[in-house]
Amino acid sequence: MSQPEPSLSLGGVFIAFEGGDGAGKSTQAQLLSAWLEELGHTVVVTREPGGTPFGRTVRELVLHGDHVAPRAEALLFAADRAHHVETLILPALARGEVVITDRYVDSSIAYQGAGRDLGVDEVRELNVWATGGLVPTLTVLIDLPADVGRARRGGVHDRLESESADFHGAVRVLFLALADADPDRYLVVDGELPPEQVRERVRVRVAMMAGVGR
Ligand code: TYD
Repeated sequence: MSQPEPSLSLGGVFIAFEGGDGAGKSTQAQLLSAWLEELGHTVVVTREPGGTPFGRTVRELVLHGDHVAPRAEALLFAADRAHHVETLILPALARGEVVITDRYVDSSIAYQGAGRDLGVDEVRELNVWATGGLVPTLTVLIDLPADVGRARRGGVHDRLESESADFHGAVRVLFLALADADPDRYLVVDGELPPEQVRERVRVRVAMMAGVGR
């Protein structure tokens, strides 16, 4: 498929990849970044939790420690995010760069709000406060049945990945509901498609976002 050429006015754009474990977000974030860089953009690829030195300490605590109380878990993800937004994301956007993050607020709403049952609205409010209300320009949801994600991940699981099929099912439903409620700001891609087809769909949408269309 021939590619539309995004305009070079993409600076200051914030793109989040979301989805269940094993959906292929990290790969797609890297592919999008490489493509945008080829087109001349300056791109920062980052992730949550763990996009900053502080965040890497939080990541260890929240993913690889012993039991963490659910509210403490929500606060740790929010603390990672608050620091990430203030010290990395906002400065890069202010420089006119493209920021691509592997997970953002929706992961907390889905995993802690729905999966842990802490309440979708409560977790959303906590995260609006933590981020100062920063919302992605575009969120790419790579949707995948939980059992397919689990099979792809193989045997090694962090604290969240080890949760039950019901937990991961609730996470998926919530991600889809968030996307459904705001189609202008979301792209939902079937994560069972071959990676090159996922990549194409993302490129087409990002090119449209840059005001070029096809
Ligand atoms: P991720 O880094 O995507 O996993 P991996 O690198 O192992 O593929 O995410 C780590 C886990 O943290 C994942 O199971 C989802 C979970 N998570 C939350 O529960 N809430 C959050 O706010 C975030 C950002 C992640």
